[in-house]
Amino acid sequence: MTTASFPATRLRRWRAHDWRRRLLRETVLTANDFVLPLFLMDGDNTAVDIPTLPGVQRLTVDRAVARAREAHAAGIPAIALFPATDAKLKDARGREALNPDNLVGRAIRAIKSNVPGLGIVADVALDPYTDHGHDGLIVDGDVANDATVAVLAEQAVVLAQAGADIVAPSDMMDGRVGAIRRALETHSHTNTLILSYAVKYASAFYGPFRDAVGSGGRLGAKGGPADKRTYQMDPANAAEALREARLDVSEGADALMVKPAGTSLDIIAALKRDVELPVFAYQVSGEYAMLAVGAAQGLFNRTDAVLESLVAIKRAGATGILTYAALEIAEALESTP
Ligand code: PBG
Repeated sequence: MTTASFPATRLRRWRAHDWRRRLLRETVLTANDFVLPLFLMDGDNTAVDIPTLPGVQRLTVDRAVARAREAHAAGIPAIALFPATDAKLKDARGREALNPDNLVGRAIRAIKSNVPGLGIVADVALDPYTDHGHDGLIVDGDVANDATVAVLAEQAVVLAQAGADIVAPSDMMDGRVGAIRRALETHSHTNTLILSYAVKYASAFYGPFRDAVGSGGRLGAKGGPADKRTYQMDPANAAEALREARLDVSEGADALMVKPAGTSLDIIAALKRDVELPVFAYQVSGEYAMLAVGAAQGLFNRTDAVLESLVAIKRAGATGILTYAALEIAEALESTP
């Protein structure tokens, strides 16, 4: 037994002053913990609010460079880019994903040349580019696994070529990590990291993200399924999460991602315990939006609530956290002890 009983032990002793609480604190957030997601759009010097994601905007490339500079100045190690592709450029096969001069390619090059010290994560998936809103190619009413994997491997090479430091397959096809690793090696991108969305649940909380990239309203159209449950995981499953994680390790992933973060703290802890790779967690759009809307309604203090949600994700074992609140929280952490 390591704990004496009351009254020899009074756990409130350690809580009696701020300095005692700070001394005892096990989990401490810093700017180094965060990756800031940014949404991109065509045009110049423009930022457009995303109604379902309060406080988050789609940015033209020049504005994204400015935001990247702010993130770097705040000590955030990396950003993650997501394009809101012009509807005219979307088609059944998501061809625009392979255009080296597409929105995300242009943004990567502009940010790399202006803010070279900032890491760039680029999503590998076709949903910002397909007219049916799915992450891959539709064959016979469902997303075709192997044909999609071939395109994703090409997309990863295009992104690495543009200068992405980390490619992050978020598509949940089987075998894509191995295919991407082989393609990167073949094209001499030996230093590109693969951050695999190993455990991605089919979640209601991706709604605002789908509005942001313009994919949500398309699901169910053009012969595609109405949701992503044939490829994203059932939120009821935990053993399957470990199988996904181990497969991605064996295929050459450098890090794993779990999402949504807040509803998967058990999974983050399990991966941290059972898999040696770094585990990242994504506080997704719907999780962030709930906090933002609740705070705006006066239900709780915004910074306190966001900090609590993030410290819980780190306490569970996350190596890093993707969150739309990264910049405001990094700045808030700087001004508080
Ligand atoms: C797309 C992708 C999604 C997210 C990240 N990459 C949405 C989806 O799978 O439909 C969600 C992120 C968020 O909700 O913030 N492959």
